[in-house]
Amino acid sequence: MGMGFVCAMEAALAAGDPAAAEIVACECVTLAELTDHGNWELIGECAAKLTGAEGKALKEAYKEVEEQEDEHYYHSKGWLRELSLQALGLKAVLPPPEERKHVKTAIGAARAEQERKQMR
Ligand SMILES: [Fe+2]
Repeated sequence: MGMGFVCAMEAALAAGDPAAAEIVACECVTLAELTDHGNWELIGECAAKLTGAEGKALKEAYKEVEEQEDEHYYHSKGWLRELSLQALGLKAVLPPPEERKHVKTAIGAARAEQERKQMR
């Protein structure tokens, strides 16, 4: 993870602001999951083009991991949004709608965000 994030987290902890440190940590996780999510999408594209044993192996790996990675990304993004809203003194939905509704797809994530106003 980037040094900027680590410094921001340490600064928040040193300043006695654990809520800010938690948000920075959540940003780190969300950014890592975004990268993960993007990489698995690329792996899926490669798997679709590959043939033979390699293609088969990559397709199987993609099928197994892709949904989990989507879930990681949407859930961490949801946590980041809600923790940030809470820090701003605004109404937050905790745990986030993505977590409550076990979101696994982009459509599910969009729906959860739409419905969050009714959850507060
Ligand atoms: Fe992940």
